[in-house]
Amino acid sequence: MQKSLKRLLSIVLCFTLVFGIGTYSFADGEEEIPAKGDAEPFRISVSMNGDAASQRGFCWYTKTETDTKVEVLDKTGASVGKVTFTESQQWEGNYYHKATVSELKAGESYTFRVGNGTEWSEYGSFVTDDGDDSFSFIEIADVQATPLENFQKAALTVNAAFETLPEAEFIVNCGDFTNDSTNEEWDRYDYSFGKINANCTIVPVSGNHDGFGVENWFNNMFNLDTSESVQTKDGVNYSFDYGNAHIAVINTNDMMSITIPQLVWLKNDLNSTDKDWKLCFMHKSPYTLGKDGKWPDALYLSESLAKVFDMCDVDMVISGHDHMYLRTKPLKGNRVSEDGTTYVLSGTAGTKRYEVREFLAGMFLNTDFIDALTVQKNGYGNYWNGKDWNSTSEDNVGGCFNTVEIKGGTLTFNSYIRNDETGEVKNIDTYSVTKETGKNKATFSGDNTTSTFEYYLGLIPSFICLAIYAFGSWLPRFLIDVPYILYVYITQDTF
Ligand SMILES: [Fe+2]
Repeated sequence: MQKSLKRLLSIVLCFTLVFGIGTYSFADGEEEIPAKGDAEPFRISVSMNGDAASQRGFCWYTKTETDTKVEVLDKTGASVGKVTFTESQQWEGNYYHKATVSELKAGESYTFRVGNGTEWSEYGSFVTDDGDDSFSFIEIADVQATPLENFQKAALTVNAAFETLPEAEFIVNCGDFTNDSTNEEWDRYDYSFGKINANCTIVPVSGNHDGFGVENWFNNMFNLDTSESVQTKDGVNYSFDYGNAHIAVINTNDMMSITIPQLVWLKNDLNSTDKDWKLCFMHKSPYTLGKDGKWPDALYLSESLAKVFDMCDVDMVISGHDHMYLRTKPLKGNRVSEDGTTYVLSGTAGTKRYEVREFLAGMFLNTDFIDALTVQKNGYGNYWNGKDWNSTSEDNVGGCFNTVEIKGGTLTFNSYIRNDETGEVKNIDTYSVTKETGKNKATFSGDNTTSTFEYYLGLIPSFICLAIYAFGSWLPRFLIDVPYILYVYITQDTF
């Protein structure tokens, strides 16, 4: 299909879902969500699953046990694709259903419905990758809501994202979909984001709030191909190609945030591609000025994962977790370098927003690394000018979303905030990089699967590495910072 026609269809589909979101009214509680019928599909998602040009993974829930069917239609209305049942199980009081549809055509728009063959969902839609070197996507993070109203405010931010980039071919959610990962919260998320999820392929990233003590919560919300990766129960690691890019999704909720088996998998995975662009998504941020930057996780990620990103020439890493927007200059070998990796801490699409922890500057994050910083909360510093923090304006108080557009050897990244009060969308940051294409070479081939035995075996050296780092690198910095942390806690009530 012609790219222009495909984009036109995408635009039509996006406006359809945007209009759908706009019809929701704010509500005070869960009583506004209509009860589901026994076999009525809900929490429907269509996710990236293996080959982005020919395959998608579907997941949905029903109240009671019933059959698992998917129907995919092409633009003529003909039923297409090979449907493979993946699994269906009782889970936390409901039943989840997973099926994969393969043998789809590249660069096509499809509609689909899920159900049991008798009772079906409404039709949703998605597009497949046409394989050329031009595509775009939306990225959000940290909706992390509990009340329905906050989920719906976040949905308005995503609504604005699709109005800003209607040709987006997929959406990345960098984790913390909910606050406590309860059935009630996932249902409010579904009620608010249902039309988005049913009309755009999602690339989900697991956040630390997406399970909260219950193994497999996140894993049972999406149908992802994790077959050739490190299998974990509190999130997933997976990768795929899209256009001229290779994309890896990393779970940072594992024990110690990241383990040696994950680092080995990631290194092999990133070395197995000759795609021009290498992008990584994860939840926790290695470079942050948010409240979680003082704990060992961030520093450990910057000391372990960044080495892999450096080694494998990763272009951009996007993460979340700290509810403010921060973009670094390109970094390599823990210094600014033109051919390094750009790290983006995605602002929150939700309503829970953090202020800058100034005590992190210098000791935990070299402020020379910062290229852009925006705090979404009024009255707090929103950028570092080399000696002082400046205050935010009301303009920056709202939900954040980001867009990435790749055209051949040029990647353009934009960050936006949708103002809470006015609904106005403001571009808060633009970053563009151009590189020579055709330079990357695949240096790894073969099986990159980590068995359960290998995974558990790898936890011992992982723990030793973390302990060495925690006592040798993190603790001394933390202890030096304690007086300042206490001072800020007493004078600003900020910890
Ligand atoms: Fe988080």
